[in-house]
Amino acid sequence: MNAMLSQESRKETLPQPASSGDHAITMKHQEQKPQETRSQAAVMNEFHMSANDLPSIVPPKISARALSFFYGQQQALFENNLDIAAGKVTAIIGPSGCGKSTHLRVYNRVFELYRDQKASGEVLFDGQNLLSPSVDLIELRRRIGMIFQKPTPFPLSVFENVAYGLRLHFKMPKSELKGRVESALKLAALLDEVKDKLDKPGIALSGGQQQRLCIARTIALEPEVLLMDEPTSAIDPVATSKIEDLMESLKGNYTIVIVTHSMQQAARISDFTAFFYKGYIVEYGPTKQIFTNPANKQTEDYITGRFG
Ligand SMILES: Nc1ncnc2c1ncn2[C@@H]1O[C@H](COP(=O)(O)OP(=O)(O)OP(=O)(O)O)[C@@H](O)[C@H]1O
Ligand SMILES: [Mg+2]
Repeated sequence: MNAMLSQESRKETLPQPASSGDHAITMKHQEQKPQETRSQAAVMNEFHMSANDLPSIVPPKISARALSFFYGQQQALFENNLDIAAGKVTAIIGPSGCGKSTHLRVYNRVFELYRDQKASGEVLFDGQNLLSPSVDLIELRRRIGMIFQKPTPFPLSVFENVAYGLRLHFKMPKSELKGRVESALKLAALLDEVKDKLDKPGIALSGGQQQRLCIARTIALEPEVLLMDEPTSAIDPVATSKIEDLMESLKGNYTIVIVTHSMQQAARISDFTAFFYKGYIVEYGPTKQIFTNPANKQTEDYITGRFG
């Protein structure tokens, strides 16, 4: 089915979404006014993008299906459907609090480090449900690496920041380590800047260098997917452009999913863009289409800076 056509046909009739506050109120009324609840459910139904509306991505590296997420009693994601294209950059955009980080964190199950956080639905990774209890989490997190907003080097030397994971995951002998560390630093476009200070503390590097060190540390483990949650929001424009160049050079070999608040960044670097709003995925498609001809009013208002 043509996703945009189907969304276009909803364009005029799309209701305003309920805010999370409204949603809570609706739930409260649920027991007393079942009639109202049904119409609210219809509103929610209209607002969320079904799997049939997804653009054709064959085969997807990751597919979220009816993915919902709960912080205790509070629902943060509502039946998200998304296909992530292999070897491409996918941007996740949307206003603060709409569930971007929550969605990303499901992919490597980092949320399970916290009590009371639960995901339901399915996330297929190369066709296997990564939410299945039988999944090896250490291996999953090696294959799907994550870079956070604030660079988080270990309190170790530049060399050891990268070597640490290699020893842990691959039981790599010392003789091989040096080459592997250097090639990861090179891939992360950092080697030239740090080759004379490999024994200096990682935290002594600049913010942009620290972020590339974290990228080197992650790609040293040969992941297939890189999740990046606002990776450049804490660093200056020069360092940002280095990281954007790096993403450009890594894609193809890696599948990259990036959360960003910068519309320019999403437009510059991504192939596909998903617009999140209040825990729903409202629109998803090729970046060019989302930015030049969004099918949905909320998407248009957001990318043109009318809210968020
Ligand atoms: N640890 C938590 N406990 C309870 N609620 C949480 C927690 N983390 C996030 N939330 C809630 O889940 C919703 C989605 O949050 P999330 O951090 O995913 O948003 P976001 O789109 O990444 O926002 P931002 O752009 O500000 O980073 C918000 O309503 C938020 O308050
Ligand atoms: Mg976030």
